[in-house]
This record gives sequence, structure tokens and C-alpha cells, in this order.
Amino acid sequence: KQDFVNIQNLSEDTLLYLIRMAQEFEKHPNRELLKGKVVATLFYEPSTRTRLSFETAANRLGARVIGFTDAKVSSVSKGETLKDTILMVSNYADVIAMRHYIEGAAQYASEVAPIPIINAGDGAHQHPSQCLLDLYTIHQTQGTLNNLNIYLVGDLKYGRTVHSLIMAMRHFNPTFHFIAPKELAMPTEYKLYCKSHNIKYVEHTAFNSKEIADADILYMTRVQKERFSDLMEYERVKNVYRLTNDMLADAKPNMKVLHPLPRVNEIAYEVDDNPHAYYIQQAKNGLYAREAIFCYCLGITLDDVLNDKTIIE
Ligand code: CP
Repeated sequence: KQDFVNIQNLSEDTLLYLIRMAQEFEKHPNRELLKGKVVATLFYEPSTRTRLSFETAANRLGARVIGFTDAKVSSVSKGETLKDTILMVSNYADVIAMRHYIEGAAQYASEVAPIPIINAGDGAHQHPSQCLLDLYTIHQTQGTLNNLNIYLVGDLKYGRTVHSLIMAMRHFNPTFHFIAPKELAMPTEYKLYCKSHNIKYVEHTAFNSKEIADADILYMTRVQKERFSDLMEYERVKNVYRLTNDMLADAKPNMKVLHPLPRVNEIAYEVDDNPHAYYIQQAKNGLYAREAIFCYCLGITLDDVLNDKTIIE
């Protein structure tokens, strides 16, 4: 079975293959490639984009969707284990997309489930489907994934999307710039990952127009209140980096501002109309990336997509 749990397990060829497939879904999102299939979405943590774009992807491909958005309304509230929940849902569905607050939960589920598991985010660890849509968006805006200057800003400690992005970009010779307060610095394990994979990175503390002038991608992140054990510490760092229009004055013409969303205060609303802002389109790309992920997990190939006769205009 083909799980989609860890981005670091995917080769360069597989990532480019999935991007190619997603491009076809951007051209024609409505098809019946998954007609007769049942997709389960199990969300033990809140979500807007990830769950709704997975469910939209399933619906647009002709599948039906089951699941829960709040584990309290499932038998988890009676003490059912993750293993039993996964085994039960495997009786009903063909693939499970799951978000869980425990790091490694999706990996564990993939080891016990007889059907493919898609990791829709596990704690502060990984967010591989977000990563695929981020790669898709970077490729869409830059025309390449190679040799880019990528600035990661904000909560680099708990931000699972930036952890996945570093691992996926190892194939493409990026230079990463980490801008975070010391309390939210990139964890040592990811810096060691960069060193062991020859990924260049520079650490900054200043965040101003001069500091980011050579960026191709400015990837903002939210400070993740829900992961702090000490809310006083959250209060100290929550507004430390905020992007405003004047900070984009020296940006390169190709530079795009991305954000996995939701945002709180880290991007001023005035930036939404700036030509560098791209985070709303980025979220839209989640639909195409997740259609590709379902196909990848359910044995539908790029050739199947290219030769598909089920397109609904
Ligand atoms: N980007 C992202 O994971 O958003 P949601 O938490 O709304 O799914």
C-alpha cells in the first residue's frame, strides 16, 4: 500500500511527478477517477484548509467522504485507542487522511492500517500534504524549484510546515534563511538535517526590508499558541515579527510571500493587495496537490490522469 506520511521518504522524481499530476488537476479538477471509493478524514486537531481541501479533492474526484472533525464526538471520547479507531475506519474506507496532535501518530497509523494513510499534520512534526502544495506554489511562481533563496519567518520551532519544506527542498539546492526569536528558533534536529544533506542555511534575528531583499520566497508562519506550555512565553513572542507593505519595498520582482495559514498578526491585512502576496492562491493549490495525493495513494498514475475520459467541464 502507498502511504503519504513523511515527505523525506519521497524522491526528487516522485515530488516532480506529483507536481506534474497536480498541474493536470489545476487544468481539470472535476473528474470521476475515484468514483466508488470512500475517503475518511479523521481530524483530532482543528483545521480549515487541510480538511476542507482534502474533502473537496475527494468530492471533485467522485469519491464519498466519511469522518470526524472533533474526536470528542467519536468513540475516542470513550477511550478507544488510535489503533482500534484506525482498524475500524479501515473496514469502511479506502484511504484515511488524518491529523493528530501526537508527533508520529500518522506513522503509527500507517503501520497498523491495511489501507493507505495520509498525514494531514502530526503535532509540531510534519505536514507533508502542505509541503507538496508549497512546492507546487514555489514552482508555479518561480518557474523552478532550483537554487532559490527561501526565508522562513516566525515560529520555526513548532511550525511543522517549515520542517517538511526543508526536507523536501534538499533535492533542489536551496539557501534557507531562518528568522525567528531565540525561543522559536529552528530545532537542532532540522539544522543537523541541513548539515548532513548539504543544505545551506543562515540564521537571522532582524526582520526588515534590507534583510530580506534577496528573497525569492518569504514564507511567514504563525506563532502556534496551542503548542506552548507557558502562555506567558507565548505573550512575549506572539507579535515579534509582522510583515507590512513598507517591508516589501526592496523585494525582488519575482518574490512571493507565502503562508500556510491561518494567520493571526504576522501579516498585516494591507499586504493582501500587494503583488508579492500569494498565500490565498497557495491555499487554493492545496486542492490540486491533494487530488494528486489521493491518486498516488490509490494507484492512479499520471498516465491515467492524462488519458482520463471522465473529465467534467
Ligand atoms: N495550513 C493548514 O494546515 O491550515 P489548517 O490548519 O486550516 O488546515
